[in-house]
Amino acid sequence: MTPWVIGNWKLNPATLKDTQQLLQGIATQLQKVEQHHACQVMVAPSFIHLSAAAALLASDVDAFDDDLHLAHLAHLAAKGISSKSLSTKVNTIKLAGQDVTALTDATGAYTGDVSAVQLKDIGVEWVILGHSERRQYYSEDNESLLKKVIHCAYHGLGVVLCVGESEAAFLAGQTEAVLAQQLLVLQSFIKAIKQADNAARNDIQNSNEHANTIDPAAVAQGAIDLQLSRLIVAYEPVWAIGTGKVASVQQVAAIHHFIRQQLVGFDASLIQTPIIYGGSVNAKNVDEFAACAAVDGVLVGGAALDAQSFVNIVQSFCSE
Ligand code: PGA
Repeated sequence: MTPWVIGNWKLNPATLKDTQQLLQGIATQLQKVEQHHACQVMVAPSFIHLSAAAALLASDVDAFDDDLHLAHLAHLAAKGISSKSLSTKVNTIKLAGQDVTALTDATGAYTGDVSAVQLKDIGVEWVILGHSERRQYYSEDNESLLKKVIHCAYHGLGVVLCVGESEAAFLAGQTEAVLAQQLLVLQSFIKAIKQADNAARNDIQNSNEHANTIDPAAVAQGAIDLQLSRLIVAYEPVWAIGTGKVASVQQVAAIHHFIRQQLVGFDASLIQTPIIYGGSVNAKNVDEFAACAAVDGVLVGGAALDAQSFVNIVQSFCSE
């Protein structure tokens, strides 16, 4: 499967200008990677910068580095390739939100929240959900995550569901138990989809056990939108996030195998769901992960804030 390299910018950078420069830098460096179409590249700016990032990516290629643009046009012309493909190259960067409200998929009196319909409207295609920082600081749990996943599916937004154990759980040998519990949100999602399908067919919406909290129509639409390309599971051990303590590739491969077993137990179609790793990934340690068949990509925090190091990570996956 085509690997994913996803940059989670978290609450960075401080200014719009720096955000634009970072995105321009990534787009520019990416054009230099010969095989960059061999990899799916996505970044998740903070909400306040998403619109500007979407506008930048949708803008004409002239918004990017002029010299490089001209050099690249000459390079393409020499190869007999139409310059139209250059725009395609720039537009290969996808955008993700870092969260979405659980309270509604649309609009309403929810001060400070951002909804799936708003993200969709500005050109965002994916949402990162269940990141350990949201679980820790905002008590995100499976109940709210289920609503968020359904809202995203309803609007055709892909979901990067993050799971991962704390250091204490890791040391106590409880990694699999923690992950199994966190992954149950996907089992509930699939169950809700199937129930909604039945409900829609039999017109028995009121008997749906989720009817009080979840709009059955949204669930039914979510069923249509449940496609393999719209779900990614990111394994991010909490003790490896932002600590420099990267998990070994052997550990990660074993955990990814466990996650795969859980997913397939929920529904056979999830055999193809990408399972990516996150936690102190950088340009120096990424090669091992890129070479590992059980790792379908990486979710990168700190190292995604430097255009060159992020694109070097992309390059590692492209050359595998
Ligand atoms: P890190 O963050 O790469 O800085 O460890 C990863 C993440 O939180 O997704």
